[in-house]
Amino acid sequence: MRNRVIEATWFEYGGYGDADVLQERTEVVAPPGPGEVIVEVIATSLNHMDAFLRNGKESTWSDDPWPRRSGSDFAGIVVATGPHAEFPVGSHVVGHVRTGAHATHVTVPTSTLVRKPAKLMWEVAGALYLAGATALDTLDQLRIGPGDTVVVSAAAGGVGSIETQLAKHRGARVIGTCGERNFDYLRQLGIIPVRYGEGIVERIRRVAEGPVTAFIDNFGKDGRDIAQELGVADTRYRSSADRREVELSLLRDDPEAVAHGTGQLGRLVQLAEAGAFRLLVSGLYPLADIREAFEDLAELHSRGKIVLATRPVTTYRTIKAREVHEAMTGGYAA
Ligand SMILES: NC(=O)c1ccc[n+]([C@@H]2O[C@H](COP(=O)([O-])OP(=O)(O)OC[C@H]3O[C@@H](n4cnc5c(N)ncnc54)[C@H](OP(=O)(O)O)[C@@H]3O)[C@@H](O)[C@H]2O)c1
Repeated sequence: MRNRVIEATWFEYGGYGDADVLQERTEVVAPPGPGEVIVEVIATSLNHMDAFLRNGKESTWSDDPWPRRSGSDFAGIVVATGPHAEFPVGSHVVGHVRTGAHATHVTVPTSTLVRKPAKLMWEVAGALYLAGATALDTLDQLRIGPGDTVVVSAAAGGVGSIETQLAKHRGARVIGTCGERNFDYLRQLGIIPVRYGEGIVERIRRVAEGPVTAFIDNFGKDGRDIAQELGVADTRYRSSADRREVELSLLRDDPEAVAHGTGQLGRLVQLAEAGAFRLLVSGLYPLADIREAFEDLAELHSRGKIVLATRPVTTYRTIKAREVHEAMTGGYAA
């Protein structure tokens, strides 16, 4: 069967800058090559790394040609296949790509895809890859398991909310740092919340009920000092710089890195399907509102993930739990 002509819309930028450099572009896409498919994206998500690559804070791949695209996580439906492609047209898939997922369609090798179980919501599936695989790689590297008491910073955020739940699922006692607005959320997940800021070491000691054996610093502020004061061994501390290495490695597109990333994505899909963690959607934006979605992410107070949908079922904004909290208490102070 011949593939139909497919017109895709994506966001691209011609130079470094804030989200307002993103430009929408629509064109007919080339047919997929051998082993490739075109996926119609249903949901994709935002990661800080997308913004760092776009604003020049992250200089890896600075030799890439302009214009550049953004976005690495997606879930969607296969709509065209090249020769020898593994997934037939109509397959529901979850995938990853180094860049270009903030689009209505992506052309990818099938080695980047796993099947999406019917039970897994599109919005969750489309937000799994970079945050989830970063969490999984970090927990694997630290060999988090029963007997551990682990502290995770920015515990309610995209990476932290997955990391904490998976650490708990592995049998660890998990302490998560956050603002008070997120205490109830973390408690509901079985995570012990501790407010960040002055006096944090004492507050962690009070709830740890024994030695802290590992520390994962997502936020990148004072983490090493806090971990040292708590007596965490250097080998069981992960800094924000370590996390950067993990993320960049998950975005590499050489065959070894892709195979690793897809393997981790497969594990995440299974863990999500089994209920080992629940990924909260912190904001669901139509793809066309990508700039606004990036501004939301830059506030640094997401709970779970910010997701872009190509076919949102409503065009009005649903209120977020954290907005209710802010309206009642005022401001973002810890
Ligand atoms: N090193 C890297 O390469 C790298 C890469 C990506 C991201 N990051 C940074 O890592 C952080 C978390 O990443 P993410 O992807 O999970 O982002 P995210 O979803 O935007 O994280 C938001 C979370 O950060 C928490 N937070 C805000 N201020 C905090 C503070 N002073 N101390 C501890 N937590 C705080 C918020 O909790 P409350 O709402 O409760 O305050 C919120 O739940 C972001 O700040 C991001 O910029 C670093």
